[in-house]
Amino acid sequence: MHIHYEDLTDVARYIENHAHVTLEDQTPALDNILHNIKRFRPLEPGAKILEIGVGSGWFQIYCKQQRLDIEGLEISPQLAEVARQFGNRYQQELNLRVGNVEETEIGTDKFDVIVAASVFEHVEDWHNGVRKIVAALKPGGVFYFDSTNKFSFTSGEYDFPLYGWMPDNWRYRLRIARQGEDIMKLGIDFHQFTYPQLRRYFKQVGFSRVMDFVDFKDLSRNNLNPWKRRAFRSLKTVRPLKHMALTFAPATIFICVK
Ligand SMILES: C[S@@+](CC[C@H](N)C(=O)[O-])C[C@H]1O[C@@H](n2cnc3c(N)ncnc32)[C@H](O)[C@@H]1O
Repeated sequence: MHIHYEDLTDVARYIENHAHVTLEDQTPALDNILHNIKRFRPLEPGAKILEIGVGSGWFQIYCKQQRLDIEGLEISPQLAEVARQFGNRYQQELNLRVGNVEETEIGTDKFDVIVAASVFEHVEDWHNGVRKIVAALKPGGVFYFDSTNKFSFTSGEYDFPLYGWMPDNWRYRLRIARQGEDIMKLGIDFHQFTYPQLRRYFKQVGFSRVMDFVDFKDLSRNNLNPWKRRAFRSLKTVRPLKHMALTFAPATIFICVK
């Protein structure tokens, strides 16, 4: 993957599709991510956060509003600029670098938290990216990851029946045919992940705790309706049920502790 300074159609599409989104729309989801992270790494003053793939910059802005020390790494110069502009709208100056997580130096034992939301499906050498994240976290630091789930019945990547189920080459060919060659420069989902595949790799690279979405779900939160609370309690206790639910869930979501 390279940094592309020319206009790319998928970046233009992303900007257009997200132009109407406001921080207020995003707040419940952002607050949920931060709440879950803090359960495993309390964010004391001075704690450092890195976000990989900032998109429109909402997580950056939200964290800045909470007076957290956050920086971002973003492969698209155009998106980094859009995020900076959104930041200005909310009187927040974002600390962003343009770079590719596969290549850019992100440091060693430096961060308390690293977040990569809807990013790693786009990272061609994702193994290398994850290894760099493990190295860049302090001992006890937390990695928040969410991405594609291969056997989901719907896909946030592209609206096509059973899109994620298709072999990689078929997906690439379909996207090139429908969206043009430059989808392979940025925007393509190189990877459709599965829970077992990610769990195995996160353990292999040295995370001491690897928790999927069901494992870390906080059932004491008030925003959970009683029906959902009961369903999650069953998923937490009946392993085959959890396995089935995770196989077809809309996304893969993990919190890993170094
Ligand atoms: C689908 S957007 C998600 C944005 C944001 N994290 C969110 O959840 O709204 C994926 C973002 O990751 C960026 N990205 C993709 N590959 C990357 C890489 N190798 N290194 C850094 N950023 C990358 C994209 O440019 C884009 O901003």
